[in-house]
Amino acid sequence: MHEEKVLILDFGGQYKELIARKVRECQVYCEVKPASMPIEAIRSGGYSAIIFTGGPASVYEEDAPSCDPEIFQLGLPVLGICYGCQFMAKTLGGRVEAAETREYGRRELEVDNQSPLFAGLASELDCFMSHTDQIVELPAGFVSIAKSETCPNAAIESREKKFFGTQFHPEVEHTSQGKEMIRRFLYDVCGFKGDWKMSSFIDREVEAIRRQVGDRKVFCALSGGVDSSVAAVLVHRAIGSQLTCVFVDHGLMRKNEGDEVEAVFKEQFSMNFIRVDAEERFLTALQGLRDPEAKRKAIGETFIRVFEAEAEKLKDCDFLVQGTIYPDVIESGGGDAAVIKSHHNVGGLPEDMHFDLIEPLKSLFKDEVRKLGLELGIPEMLVMRQPFPGPGLGIRVLGEVSKEKLDLLREADYIFREEIAAAGLDRQLGQYFAVLTEQRSVGVMGDGRSYDYLLALRAVETHDFMTAEFAHLPYELLDRVSRRVINEVGQINRVVYDVTSKPPATIEWE
Ligand code: XMP
Repeated sequence: MHEEKVLILDFGGQYKELIARKVRECQVYCEVKPASMPIEAIRSGGYSAIIFTGGPASVYEEDAPSCDPEIFQLGLPVLGICYGCQFMAKTLGGRVEAAETREYGRRELEVDNQSPLFAGLASELDCFMSHTDQIVELPAGFVSIAKSETCPNAAIESREKKFFGTQFHPEVEHTSQGKEMIRRFLYDVCGFKGDWKMSSFIDREVEAIRRQVGDRKVFCALSGGVDSSVAAVLVHRAIGSQLTCVFVDHGLMRKNEGDEVEAVFKEQFSMNFIRVDAEERFLTALQGLRDPEAKRKAIGETFIRVFEAEAEKLKDCDFLVQGTIYPDVIESGGGDAAVIKSHHNVGGLPEDMHFDLIEPLKSLFKDEVRKLGLELGIPEMLVMRQPFPGPGLGIRVLGEVSKEKLDLLREADYIFREEIAAAGLDRQLGQYFAVLTEQRSVGVMGDGRSYDYLLALRAVETHDFMTAEFAHLPYELLDRVSRRVINEVGQINRVVYDVTSKPPATIEWE
């Protein structure tokens, strides 16, 4: 149990994750829940403070999102942001109206640094505003604690009740002291000390896993990706040899990847580790298939069949470890995001398996998972690895897949990765990889004619992988990769660079 636990109520704002991030960066645990969360659940949820997010609606719209007004009777401190601030003002008897002009972008604020929210900060600060409505009349007991040129109530407080609100967004970078304001709310208003630390997280989770599992057995489907690797090591820390990891090697990994994964889990952590060499089965399943969706399906189904056969041998296991992380939990809360996810979720498991789940990462963000991985002693090359799709190189060899083509791609991709790392760009790019196309073209090698494959290079910058910009790689780097690929790999005589962003393209080619 967390003693300091913040409830972030989501009114539909696009920055809810940023708020959660900022709170976590202040070493305070938090959870994002929909504004419609029943008051009983809030009451029994063990929360010690509440933050309302912004949202696109106007508080006077008919279906404007709202929460149970009882929330203001719980005796908990509240911080309302943008719409959340307006909602609080209106619900407690103030007045909100459409302003003459929409206020958008960076603005100067004059703040009252007698208020605990701004104590010790400069009296003039910049902030990020994005709103059309304004609070024109404050509820009883509230005073204004900040104003901008056009917004007289840019921040408000009822210090006695510990209710605070900002018309601007403290969670975005443009509000340069925003994190300081959130920190003041958490530490000075709520009286928190900051008990959310990776080391205490490990201790708590280890304890919880031991309690859940007792002396029973657990298995984990390892993909070699960051999330399942970190989950496996954490569970191993808790229950040691009661855990068995199964790593299905589908032969669609990048160069050396399977061996690297095996070395970490088998040698470094001495885990019960089963590597299933299923390359033949996957290649057979892919034979004759050219359509991307058919290929994805074949890979997914083969994975399930191979896994079923393994699970048969692990019948005495009661639990399954999954590397679900917090954004998966938020996304599966509804909407299109969930659909996109299931489409991508190729490493799925047979539906009729009845295991209890252990999901030790489900309250963490990706970068927290990486931090945890490093703290657990997992090597950087695994923890900092770029995302890799479930179907692996099977969707980066375009059209029909063969062992020969996979080997060509593995070599070319390795050269590209090596040069990206040598240029110091590996941490900066969201994803970078090579694609072996089906296209052949004519070239001249030495004195002879060649008729070989066309290789495409792809590198993107992205924060969330939902949208992405193609990376502006230096020409010298592209030149070096192109020369090396053609000289060292063979059967590739032309290299192109993909200059399309997402949308309209996707990151992968298939
Ligand atoms: P797209 O190609 O849709 O990819 O722009 C977005 C991100 O998702 C990854 N991706 C997958 N991940 N299973 C996965 O686990 C899949 O089937 C899959 N397909 C794409 C892709 O590498 C990128 O990071």
